[in-house]
Amino acid sequence: MNPTFSAIAAIDIEYFERVASQPFVLTQNEKLEQYDHDYTEDLHFKPGVVILPANTAEVSSIAMYCNNRNIPITVRGAGTGLSGGALPVFGGVLLSMERFNRIVDIDEANGQATVEPGVITQVFQEAVAKVGLFYPPDPASKGSCFIGGNLAENSGGPKAVKYGVTTDYVLNLEVVLADGSIIWTGANVIKNATGLNLTQLLVGSEGTLGIITKAVFRLLPLPKKDILMLVPFKIAAEACKAVSTIFQAGIIPSGLEFMERDALVYAKKYIEGIEFEVDDSDEAHLLIELDGNDESILMKDAESIFGLLEQYNCGEILFANSQAQKDKLWKLRRSLGEAVKVNSIYKEEDTVVKRAELANLLIGVKEIGVRYGFQSVCYGHAGDGNLHVNILKGDMSDESWDGETLKNGIREIFRLCKKLGGTLSGEHGIGLVQKEYMDIVFSDREIQLQKSIKHTFDPNGILNPGKVWAD
Ligand code: LAC
Ligand code: ZN
Repeated sequence: MNPTFSAIAAIDIEYFERVASQPFVLTQNEKLEQYDHDYTEDLHFKPGVVILPANTAEVSSIAMYCNNRNIPITVRGAGTGLSGGALPVFGGVLLSMERFNRIVDIDEANGQATVEPGVITQVFQEAVAKVGLFYPPDPASKGSCFIGGNLAENSGGPKAVKYGVTTDYVLNLEVVLADGSIIWTGANVIKNATGLNLTQLLVGSEGTLGIITKAVFRLLPLPKKDILMLVPFKIAAEACKAVSTIFQAGIIPSGLEFMERDALVYAKKYIEGIEFEVDDSDEAHLLIELDGNDESILMKDAESIFGLLEQYNCGEILFANSQAQKDKLWKLRRSLGEAVKVNSIYKEEDTVVKRAELANLLIGVKEIGVRYGFQSVCYGHAGDGNLHVNILKGDMSDESWDGETLKNGIREIFRLCKKLGGTLSGEHGIGLVQKEYMDIVFSDREIQLQKSIKHTFDPNGILNPGKVWAD
């Protein structure tokens, strides 16, 4: 059942203009259209008004007002999300956090930093790197996505395989609740056994529990050396099988990415200056990065990896011999999502299974595709068992694509994930587009428990309605 919300009225706009000041309250149609989509497929939902608040006090006043007036609030970062989390599906207020763009403090002595949610992830990484510190989470969109979006989705990225995901670095959050109260979830300490862990509950809650206005992160020392290699495989499933043997040999790469041939072919067309040729007979590649402080140890580990990969019918290994070449290879990897998107109408699933089941997932996805009549291009974070399955519309009729046929195919993919010890999303979140599949991985009781937590935080259901849980 859809909730009934109040439409935005002139009196509401007047209030918002008083709180956030007139230039930061957008009502013109062309402005609203700029905020009516994120990176998810081709979905568009127009907000009633876009507000660009400047500080926590403004967010608090807006939340309190909307809560009283029954107006939905959808919080938006940079709009790079892939599950529709920032889409204002019931209209109302779209709260864009773009002016929350300050790195408040880098505390070198404690290896911590406090940032606002509108800071671009890469900007944050570069700022802490200047003082020898390291913030590892690095989604493919790190050059444009915001820290706040990363917190909302619990983003990962290539380095998650060694260093973990966003949640592993969050110590404390300043949050505005639906009723306008301002809270801190924890304390700025590495160890914390004090009460319920609201910090971890907020991370990954996709804007449904509160509005994050500040985050305190722990940081690591920046590794000084890395090496990068690109390894072709004749058989894609063999590349997947090779992945878990690397870990079994006691090596944890700082990146272990899987890329199917078609993804590379699209990306080579999409970005310039990629010199290596994609051989038709190579079904997939692994991109493997090792990092640390001692190059001789990294080289030894690389040699051990070469030895292991030979058993899996790999081809000649390209070893990046300059920073420029490393940058190009990572650019290629990071552009795969965009490249697939411009090449075809597609739907992206963010499947995740136990690492050693990756080959079974890939084989299963292809087999399901044959039965349902779709092609797929897969790539992703192999070391995490996290495979981005891009389903291409290709020759599928509009009816099958938009109707039950494809949904049933996707259901089968997710059922397979569950069977292989996995779940629906590794790092993109549930948002709008995956909520109808939650019953595959959670019982009614489990979903009810999640909904009751949501209700405790947001009794009127104004925060990002229509997301995560099916109606
Ligand atoms: C990537 C994004 C799509 O890994 O998560 O490229
Ligand atoms: Zn990814």
